[in-house]
Amino acid sequence: MGYLQVKYFRKKSSSEKIQLAMEKRIILITGANRGLGAATGIKLAEQGHHVIFTARNSHKLSTLKKQLSHKHSSVDFIPLDVRQPDSIIGAYQTIASHYPQIDTLINNAGIYTSGTVDISTINDQEILEAFNTNTLGPLKITQQFLPLIKKSPEGIIVNVSSGMGALAEMDGGSPAYRISKTALNVTTKLLHHELSWQGIKVNSVCPGWVRTEMGGPSATLSIDEGISGIIWAATLQKDGPSGGFYRHGQPLPW
Ligand SMILES: NC(=O)c1ccc[n+]([C@@H]2O[C@H](COP(=O)([O-])OP(=O)(O)OC[C@H]3O[C@@H](n4cnc5c(N)ncnc54)[C@H](OP(=O)(O)O)[C@@H]3O)[C@@H](O)[C@H]2O)c1
Repeated sequence: MGYLQVKYFRKKSSSEKIQLAMEKRIILITGANRGLGAATGIKLAEQGHHVIFTARNSHKLSTLKKQLSHKHSSVDFIPLDVRQPDSIIGAYQTIASHYPQIDTLINNAGIYTSGTVDISTINDQEILEAFNTNTLGPLKITQQFLPLIKKSPEGIIVNVSSGMGALAEMDGGSPAYRISKTALNVTTKLLHHELSWQGIKVNSVCPGWVRTEMGGPSATLSIDEGISGIIWAATLQKDGPSGGFYRHGQPLPW
């Protein structure tokens, strides 16, 4: 058996039903109350996957739950702040008591710290602020959920990174954000090194510059365009790549 096997019935005629079986992944997304995280979760639920939406703000999570629960039966909503150890452990315990495995983890939660522009004057606090959410957050979530990911026959981890973290595209500005995403890319490579031989794929994905709260209204891509590469990486086939950096499914130089 592959992932969670879900069978459903579609009427072919009044007297005949055909049974359709599809493979669903159980997908956990962080920072899923808005922006790319929410849109990715909704698209994956529409595709028939079981999606666990997580967010740090319970009020925002219950608003999303009200919007989505009547449209999609295969969704769940669990509070999770990627910076709070107690929150991470609590979410893990809840999820582990309800689910046999996690097939895909999407580390999407992130912050953009626009403060100091120059690396020569930035203070430690600004760097640590971005690092704690954008680098340590995904790492701590991955470490905590690894036992459940290892139970999947085809585990996938997607780290939502940024071209701003690519050494190949390293212009000036936004040093705290850039450092945090470069370090996230290193984390991707190291996790790939440790986990790929166990059948777990780990990739970094840059969504491009997207019109979310973070990207702002001048960004070049719609949310639908931005999530395409995240969806691709989250649903890779068994022979798909691992240990890479991608934008819209195309390799990006590190
Ligand atoms: N938009 C772009 O142009 C762009 C480009 C490259 C990469 N990215 C990356 O794509 C990802 C999603 O970005 P977005 O554009 O959708 O940004 P967004 O609209 O600002 O959404 C960010 C999400 O992360 C959540 N979050 C922040 N800190 C968190 C924490 N400690 N615990 C849990 N959730 C937390 C936010 O929750 P709250 O609502 O509670 O704040 C929100 O749901 C980020 O990793 C970002 O770096 C975005």
